[in-house]
Amino acid sequence: MKALSTGLVAATLALTGAAQAQDVIKVGVIAPMTGPQAASGQQIMAGAKLYQQLNGTKVGNKTIELIFKDDTGVPDVTRRLAQELIVNDKVAVISGFGLTPLALAVGPVITQAKVPAVIMVAGTSMIVGTSPYFVRVSFTLPQNTAPVAQWAVENGVKSAVSLFSDYGPGLDAAAAFKKRLEAGGGKVMQELKAPLADPDFAPFLQRAKDAKPDALFLFVPAPTAGALMKQVVDRGIPQSGIKVIGPGDVTDDDQLNGMGDGVLGMVTSYNYSAAHDSPENKKFVEEFKKANNGRRPNVIGVGGYDGIHAIYKAIEKNGGNTDGTKLIEAFKGLSWVSPRGPVSIDPETRDIVQNVYVRKVEKKDGELYNVEFKTYENQKDPK
Ligand code: DHB
Repeated sequence: MKALSTGLVAATLALTGAAQAQDVIKVGVIAPMTGPQAASGQQIMAGAKLYQQLNGTKVGNKTIELIFKDDTGVPDVTRRLAQELIVNDKVAVISGFGLTPLALAVGPVITQAKVPAVIMVAGTSMIVGTSPYFVRVSFTLPQNTAPVAQWAVENGVKSAVSLFSDYGPGLDAAAAFKKRLEAGGGKVMQELKAPLADPDFAPFLQRAKDAKPDALFLFVPAPTAGALMKQVVDRGIPQSGIKVIGPGDVTDDDQLNGMGDGVLGMVTSYNYSAAHDSPENKKFVEEFKKANNGRRPNVIGVGGYDGIHAIYKAIEKNGGNTDGTKLIEAFKGLSWVSPRGPVSIDPETRDIVQNVYVRKVEKKDGELYNVEFKTYENQKDPK
């Protein structure tokens, strides 16, 4: 009798477990939470958690469980974590990817496993084309760079030096800038490539200053912007008459206040500003700060938030069916109002379509902000 009742209890527990497992949809979030890109993982995690805090964990009768993993910014680790999440944890989706090489590392894994991957940060144009299971909610560098190149043309920039991190997004940004500046009659005099790991910007900045261009065009990944801009300001480059410009990664909202007043007046173009004037963004910034000891969200925080939103909406659209091939279809054509403004997923390319804003650094209530003054609506990746 004793043995029987123990068996019954075990069977009941197993049944309950199975029922619970069916009601839970697991989502992996892989990002650098430690190492030089740690700020990226922190912002992704904060954005993703805030989405659940404000919107709950339920989609229909399913509970969405987020599983966070730290890849320390190393592609081999990203790939291994993706495999473990898919095979052991049976996640329906993976997401995150704080750097281009980290996203590229999971392409073959998701293609083979037929599991969608939502890119929350990485911005090299070609990534999404490397697997039919990629979808991107972040941005591309050509998308974010084109408007500031146009601004340079319209504001008398005839000569420029470009300084950028020597990997995918840097090459994309520099090419997009050069194409538009030169189409507008200007010339890129020099392209200076700094290593992604442990860069020493000093010799590059000296060469750029000595060349006396009308503009210095800059790109580094957002978490590196504070280190770069401190040196740009210390060398007095903005004050020397050289216009310092770039995509908004270089005036990253997370670090902008630490860059000092030397960046006042700097013009960039970008898909997100913490100062974006909309009710959705006011609420997002307020709640993000409340949940994170006053820390300001940046483009990566909004990428984490929107990435989870897109995952909720794709699961909802499919009535809770998480078959990977059906789920990737559900992402195509999604549209919503993000804290950054209206966005959609291009059904052809699975890439984000969004407004890109031209902004200027201004001081408001004692803090530095990227204040938007011109909008390019519904921008696709221009390639
Ligand atoms: C990438 C990473 C960033 O943090 C950023 O601001 C832009 C691009 C990337 O590696 O793709």
